[in-house]
Amino acid sequence: MDDHRLTIVSNIQVLREEIAELRAQKKTVALVPTMGALHEGHLSLIDFAKEHADKTVCSIYVNPTQFAPGEDLDAYPRPLVDDIRALEGKLTDFVFTPTDDEMYPDGFSTKISVSGLTSALCGKSRPDHFDGVATIVTKLLLMVQPDFAIFGEKDYQQLLVIRRFVRDLNIPVEILGAPIIRGEDGLALSSRNQYLSAKEREVAPQLHQTLNQLSEKIKDISKDLSELLASANDELTRLGFKVDYLEIRDAKSLAPIAEIFEDQAARLFVAAKLGNTRLIDNVAV
Ligand code: PAF
Repeated sequence: MDDHRLTIVSNIQVLREEIAELRAQKKTVALVPTMGALHEGHLSLIDFAKEHADKTVCSIYVNPTQFAPGEDLDAYPRPLVDDIRALEGKLTDFVFTPTDDEMYPDGFSTKISVSGLTSALCGKSRPDHFDGVATIVTKLLLMVQPDFAIFGEKDYQQLLVIRRFVRDLNIPVEILGAPIIRGEDGLALSSRNQYLSAKEREVAPQLHQTLNQLSEKIKDISKDLSELLASANDELTRLGFKVDYLEIRDAKSLAPIAEIFEDQAARLFVAAKLGNTRLIDNVAV
């Protein structure tokens, strides 16, 4: 008989006690931080975690400080019962579902802020977003003190920001990036895809197709980079996207790239709105 059990914890003190017990048993621990509305992309992070550690903790918390006023905090899907069922299906060991009061008690006045990496791409149109992410991820890392924490490459800039503050603050955890999971039509899986109307959902995969085509063209170093980017931008606009950015940057530093050299790790990044839904994607060049 399968005696696996998913333990649901919403209190920080109880979480600490559970983790201490695992430590006493010399178990390694992986943390998968999420905001819930779990899809196959998240579940692949759980698989990844299970490959690396003895025990897996998934946190589900829609973090208010990473949303700007007017963004989708209230609308963000919160299907907790389905999420718990999906985590049980993946034999996850713990799910941590704290309340806002638990995470941000009255008088909360601290933030973790990473400069440089956060000034471009999503940081430009969402100026406080990465402070919110860095602060909540730091809190989660201090609560769970995992050996590994897993983040998807779909939020590639987020992954680099997290690696940076973990290094800068000497937080003893190994940050692992996991590949983007896509639908059959190439659309990167995202909890926000469910905001798309049927018509928008048909158009949405063109974001990835355009990135792929652009990445192929960029390999031909005789072509002018800025012209290629401008024409891909026009193509997305013609398809109905409102492009926030479409840029090629260094995959490690996110420094802008004006010219491609061989052996350079470059990456294409896009954010665009389709109707009211903001989609992001990235591919290696
Ligand atoms: O990527 C996300 O879902 C969130 O930004 C994270 C890392 C769980 C922090 O709230």
